[in-house]
Amino acid sequence: MKSLVSASLLGCDLADLKNEIKSIEQAGADWLHCDVMDGAFVDNISFGTPVLKCIKKYATVPMDTHLMIQYPIRYVDDYAKLGSDNITFHLEAADDPQAVIDRIHSHGISAGISIKPATPVSAVKPFLESVELVLVMTVDPGFGGQKFIPDTLSKISEIRYLLDSLGRNDTHIQVDGGVNDKTVKFCREAGADVMVSGSYVFGANDRNAAVKSLKI
Ligand code: DX5
Ligand code: ZN
Repeated sequence: MKSLVSASLLGCDLADLKNEIKSIEQAGADWLHCDVMDGAFVDNISFGTPVLKCIKKYATVPMDTHLMIQYPIRYVDDYAKLGSDNITFHLEAADDPQAVIDRIHSHGISAGISIKPATPVSAVKPFLESVELVLVMTVDPGFGGQKFIPDTLSKISEIRYLLDSLGRNDTHIQVDGGVNDKTVKFCREAGADVMVSGSYVFGANDRNAAVKSLKI
């Protein structure tokens, strides 16, 4: 199966959200990736529930919510109730990651756990059997338009190996940050199957071609 593309709306014209959603869905985006930043876990503030509620009104593909916030358990219910189809939180931000996973699952939706580039695979290993998605950040979270960090690739391979040995072949490995038509090849080879892309797909003159180039 070809990889899926989760288009990061952080890279779109937020003043024209409704049309940007339509445009990127027509270009073939499989999911809409919504980056929630709190200015504490990361050095940037993006948007939160009011904006995601608007996104949900116009989205026709699954909403993939990426929480880059401290104490994510406080907000899981809000982001689930507004219609997230997947909620990914950061391992580094949670006191009790299993409790966050369970809370996400209590809403009947998919749970994702994410690690920053500096966080080792061993930290996420205990949770690999409980989640539907593992997000391996390929840049330090906080900003769009950064350069892909190649050192993260070995973590993707390692996680894919661990998932295979657990018989969890359906668990997604998502990559996020600096993904484009070149870096996507390395991600795919390493075992990632969901490509998040913001500046590359939204900045392309031909969005159809850009999205297609990530489906390898
Ligand atoms: C970064 C966000 C990303 C970001 C990706 O912290 O999690 O989703 O929008 O942007 P690009 O594709 O431009 O690296
Ligand atoms: Zn993201």
